Amino acid sequence: MKRIVLFASGSGSNVENISNYFSNNSEVTIAAVLTNKNNAKVIERCNQLNISALYFNRHAFYTSDCVLDILKNINPDLIVLAGFLLKVPEKLVKNFPNKIINIHPALLPKYGGKGMYGMNVHNAVKTNNEQETGITIHYVNENYDEGAIIKQAKTPVSATDTTDDIAHKVHELEYKHFPKVIDSLLHG
Ligand code: GRF
Repeated sequence: MKRIVLFASGSGSNVENISNYFSNNSEVTIAAVLTNKNNAKVIERCNQLNISALYFNRHAFYTSDCVLDILKNINPDLIVLAGFLLKVPEKLVKNFPNKIINIHPALLPKYGGKGMYGMNVHNAVKTNNEQETGITIHYVNENYDEGAIIKQAKTPVSATDTTDDIAHKVHELEYKHFPKVIDSLLHG
């Protein structure tokens, strides 16, 4: 059995989509969803989906081994950041080399780095009149959005697209590609 651990800080629509994708797969399980927000919508979704949601405190994340211990205990095949907003401590990266991946809602290296998350990214894409945007799935290293790229997918942006339209297009790409990339990494 392959075990995935997901990290999420917000709505968790990617978590739900990934869970649905693997729901009929008896060889892959979502062992847990870890979140740093005790009121995040992702917790509600996990309850509906029957997935364990574990909350951890941001301070403890950086100053203790609480999350490392949970992960060592689960021994996941892949750790997936799906809308997770905190920087991953170096200790975690070192303990799980090439096992932590992230999805970024733009075509890195454009629109990456600190502060570039959620609507900030789509607003910047709109402000710069970009003609395309997309998603980047990449390995996580010690720096924000800088690990090796695994997959990018693009979507056109038209002058009439609002930032909500852009966000919608990007989410569609995420739903389409993220579970498949996870699947191939698990079985690659
Ligand atoms: C996604 O756009 C993802 O790329 C970004 O955060 C968003 C999370 O959305 N890192 P959701 O919580 O999965 O709905």
